[in-house]
Amino acid sequence: MPYPEALPMTDDIAHRVDAYVEALFTDGDVVLEAALAASRDAGLPDIQVSAAQGKLLYLLARACGALRILEIGTLGGYSSIWLARALPPGGRLVTLEFDPHHAAVARGNFVRAGLTDVIELIEGDAHETLAALPAAQPFDMVFIDAEKPGYPAYLEAVAGLTRPGALVIADNVVREGEVLMPADEKARGAAAFNAALALRSDFEATIIQTVGAKHHDGLAFAVRR
Ligand code: SAH
Ligand code: DHB
Ligand code: MG
Repeated sequence: MPYPEALPMTDDIAHRVDAYVEALFTDGDVVLEAALAASRDAGLPDIQVSAAQGKLLYLLARACGALRILEIGTLGGYSSIWLARALPPGGRLVTLEFDPHHAAVARGNFVRAGLTDVIELIEGDAHETLAALPAAQPFDMVFIDAEKPGYPAYLEAVAGLTRPGALVIADNVVREGEVLMPADEKARGAAAFNAALALRSDFEATIIQTVGAKHHDGLAFAVRR
């Protein structure tokens, strides 16, 4: 696996271990490889979850038996495919994306993955499309992964769209430690999200740091009371 020469030693080892984990547990998936290639060819940013993180999302969805999953931030649909594959027959993934180009690439990837009956991609600003989702059909699991300044508002909206016991996961909440002293709007958004999550009495939560293919970052995990 190629890696930049200039990376610090810890990052170098973390990348090698990610390659090792992927070779063991996620290798040789033609559909996911095709989705990454199509996203790359279409010029989408290379910011989707890593293969090992995608597998984690899949396993968590399986473990909680999620029937309805919500994803905020589709990009080319890489994490969407992992999540949708975890659904039992009759399950549904709703994924929200406001960039029409990203949405078009994701739709192509969903066709190739044979998941068009399972995934509902809703185009538009997620702050608006979330508000239009029916509270009467609550979600069992949510993956928050759109613009970081929006995270506090997404948490508020998601609280009203989940059933008790639902699992909420948020990506990029550590940002190489920048959340300790936020200096840009992405780090400020993540830090505000983490603080709001900690204060909420309707969620129990923690954050797990991650290293490797996506550098030093973290995932927040919360379960609705
Ligand atoms: N979950 C994806 C990566 C998402 S990247 C994966 O791991 O494969 C974040 C995505 O959120 C981008 O495609 C971006 O266009 C989208 N996004 C940013 N702000 C948004 C908003 N306000 N509403 C909907 N989507 C938004
Ligand atoms: C960015 C967004 C992501 O969701 C991610 O996983 C990495 C980077 C970004 O906006 O820079
Ligand atoms: Mg992310």
